[in-house]
Amino acid sequence: MNILITGANRGLGLCLVKQALNSNHQVFAGVRNADEERIEKLSDLKETYQDKLKIIELDVCDDDSVRLAASQLDEIQVSLDSIVNNAGILNEREKTIEELDLEACKLALDVNTLGPIRVVKYFLPLLRKGQQQSIINISSEAGSLTNAYSGDYPYGLSKVALNMLSEKLNVYLRDEDINVLSVHPGWMKTDMGGDKAPCDPMDTAKGIMDMIERKKTIRNKYVFVDHTGKSMVI
Ligand SMILES: NC(=O)c1ccc[n+]([C@@H]2O[C@H](COP(=O)([O-])OP(=O)(O)OC[C@H]3O[C@@H](n4cnc5c(N)ncnc54)[C@H](OP(=O)(O)O)[C@@H]3O)[C@@H](O)[C@H]2O)c1
Repeated sequence: MNILITGANRGLGLCLVKQALNSNHQVFAGVRNADEERIEKLSDLKETYQDKLKIIELDVCDDDSVRLAASQLDEIQVSLDSIVNNAGILNEREKTIEELDLEACKLALDVNTLGPIRVVKYFLPLLRKGQQQSIINISSEAGSLTNAYSGDYPYGLSKVALNMLSEKLNVYLRDEDINVLSVHPGWMKTDMGGDKAPCDPMDTAKGIMDMIERKKTIRNKYVFVDHTGKSMVI
């Protein structure tokens, strides 16, 4: 399968790249910034996997960057079987509503919600040429209305909106047999999740790969699930 993963240089994104390459898929690893020191781990993987891994510059906040990345792949007649919108930020963590920096809130919405919109907007024509396609939006339990908590304002808002994007895309694309899921990956040991997190992002990546490879059939009322495919509370 041909798989595009955003935010692929570290964290869950890097684990997804590893799992996909292990399973012999072709990976397009989107990175915000392709400076050598930022993509060191991907460059190491490239030495082993060669052409099976293509590193592409893709800043999900930058319309031109996303459009250019899609047109570059289109020019070499790439089709995609899966798009994983993984890139994300978690900012303004402990702030109360009175303390919130609105520019930081806009940034979270830009990366976490508008980012996946941009990626789907420009890459959908390539996905439509693929097979057994899927769009996997990496969401969070912070995007549950039922379990709303105080704090993480911009993050929670951005993930609720991402879940709505997933539902809408699911309605829009289901007649084309393109699976759309919004996946809570668990609290993972990454830069974002920190050292105390209980989940290994490699395990999460394995669960997500099973969804991409359609080893798991998910027929829930809503497309918001955890990385094992279990329904999340909306
Ligand atoms: N970790 C957890 O416990 C947890 C829990 C629930 C949900 N999630 C979600 O899981 C996903 C991955 O999280 P993670 O823990 O792997 O986070 P992470 O370790 O902080 O990595 C975030 C990734 O997103 C990339 N990124 C940020 N802004 C970007 C932009 N404008 N364009 C392209 N890439 C950008 C980063 O690239 P740079 O290196 O260039 O900054 C990095 O590759 C996120 O969507 C997050 O919300 C994580």
